[in-house]
Amino acid sequence: MKKVWKLFSVLIVMTVLTGMLGACSGKTGGSSKVSVGIVLPTKDEPRWVQDEQRFKDALADSDYTTEILFSQGSSAKEKENVETLLNKGIEVLIIAPHDGAAAGSAVEAAKKEGVTVIAYDRLITETDAVDYYVTFDSLAVGAAQGQYLIDNVKGTNVPLYLYAGASSDNNAFLFFEGAWKVLQPKIADGTFVIANSTEAEALKDKQELTRDELGKILGQVTTNWDPNEAKNKAQTHLTAAAANLKGDVAVLAPNDGTARSIADVFGTDSDISSFVVTGQDAEKASIQYIIDGKQSMTVFKDVRTLVADAIDMAIDILDDKKPETTGSYNNGKVDVKAKQTDVIVVDEENVKKELIDSEYYEASEFKGL
Ligand code: BGC
Repeated sequence: MKKVWKLFSVLIVMTVLTGMLGACSGKTGGSSKVSVGIVLPTKDEPRWVQDEQRFKDALADSDYTTEILFSQGSSAKEKENVETLLNKGIEVLIIAPHDGAAAGSAVEAAKKEGVTVIAYDRLITETDAVDYYVTFDSLAVGAAQGQYLIDNVKGTNVPLYLYAGASSDNNAFLFFEGAWKVLQPKIADGTFVIANSTEAEALKDKQELTRDELGKILGQVTTNWDPNEAKNKAQTHLTAAAANLKGDVAVLAPNDGTARSIADVFGTDSDISSFVVTGQDAEKASIQYIIDGKQSMTVFKDVRTLVADAIDMAIDILDDKKPETTGSYNNGKVDVKAKQTDVIVVDEENVKKELIDSEYYEASEFKGL
């Protein structure tokens, strides 16, 4: 009888312990409680797949439960993702919106549930339902692209082809604004001639553009962040361009995905003798293009830092601490407290130092380094 009782007590203790463990980790059993929800815009661009991987690497040893969902370029899917995560009880939402304004209703739903919202890389606009913003210095990204073109062309009257990101992305405005500020004086002094935008041509004497003016240019030279659209536009522009807009040219391409497809088009036009083309994101395929001399530069945004900033912020919030911020961004409705990270210009001169020696990528991932 004594033995049976002993066995019974051991069983009780084991059951209680297992229950406690399950409750603590939140990962075991059927529990679907998630503390931090992460929503990224699309799996179709290497940039965001990279962010997913960097989040996974950073969270590998974390005690917090997280879930990452992709919106596949759809604001409706994005809203659905946010709702799924709300149903799992998230306390913090980290979200890079597909469309900055359309994401307003998704984050307002999150706020209603008492969730803290962190905009990740792209600002969510026209709503007061964003608490924090982690970002790179996007004006500096554009300024670096513009400056690279200035530093790497020779002579005067150099044809300048302008391209931009999607108008639904606040960053596309910041990148273009940053580039325009440095390029405009060089357009005014005759170093460059604008080759493919009548709207930019009409504004060529103004260094500071309003959002509306930027919107007009973007409306003409947008790629929508789509490499195919970029390719079609570049083809159309080169077909229409007169002989004085060919030869040695400069191309402002907003990111790596669009830069590669634009570079492919310029590279196959026999009337283009040489071109300098910008990029952004340090995507592996573009690093190979830089090594091969097919893309001139990229702006390296170390996603490890952005991920670490977002996670640190989320953990502070979960621990009831005030996250550290470095400034703020106005989103059209409120000033959103922001943590900003610097960017690095990479071309064939420093590609090894910045991307391989820093262990961002491995040398074996590239040919001819
Ligand atoms: C990001 C870029 C990216 C682009 C297209 C921007 O908001 O900052 O890194 O290339 O979106 O996805």
